Amino acid sequence: MIIANWKANGSLLSNQKWCKFFIENCPKEIISNIGIAPSALHIGQIKKLLESSDVKIGIQDIDAEGGPRTGSICGEMAADTGCDFTLIGHSERRILFKEKNVLLKQKIESAYQANLQPILCIGETLEENEQGNTMDILKSQIEEAISNITIKEGFTVAYEPVWAIGTGNTPKPNDINVIHEFIKDVVQSQSLDDVVPSVLYGGSIHESNSEDFFTEKNIDGGLIGGASLDAKEFLKIVNIYSRLITQ
Ligand code: 13P
Repeated sequence: MIIANWKANGSLLSNQKWCKFFIENCPKEIISNIGIAPSALHIGQIKKLLESSDVKIGIQDIDAEGGPRTGSICGEMAADTGCDFTLIGHSERRILFKEKNVLLKQKIESAYQANLQPILCIGETLEENEQGNTMDILKSQIEEAISNITIKEGFTVAYEPVWAIGTGNTPKPNDINVIHEFIKDVVQSQSLDDVVPSVLYGGSIHESNSEDFFTEKNIDGGLIGGASLDAKEFLKIVNIYSRLITQ
């Protein structure tokens, strides 16, 4: 799956142009493997603009609960607006909003209760990477977020090294492949039903490097920030992915 994470970007006009270009140019056979996570305010608009397609719509975050929590959006509300999935634990949420694994676990449970597919984002900081702690950090991020939860078939993890997001610095595709294999093992060994997750890579994916990532065995797709804001650039990446998985 390829997911566009628009973060706090977009406007009614720019979204309209993006969706028009996307729908006119996205290969039909791949569209159900594409997800878009616009700002929560724009989900209804995007749903409407793309209603004739099988594209998946997601929210970038949910709160763990609904009710008297001013400013929050809960899973039921996202599902009611037509979302298929929710990102959980993006590093920007962890860093800027101080979200901890224990909260992310509640969010995963909430997502399942609302029938939303949770996409758990994990990743180490530059310092953790340089200290050689990547695998330990990823393992604890996963274990603390999914222990004793019945994760379902289709559970997805997005591996996004914090130091690769928006920087142009990426790990070598082969190194990511090894990390993804490790992530699959950790999730599977935590899963009560032996679920093996899909693992997406995110962090400075562009048209020029996407083929190198997507040809790796354990990279099941991408979570794309900056390069997803321009529909033309996003479509180039989608076309590369489409060619590789239909080969
Ligand atoms: P960039 O593609 O801009 O590096 O962002 C990655 C990301 O954070 C997607 O969630």
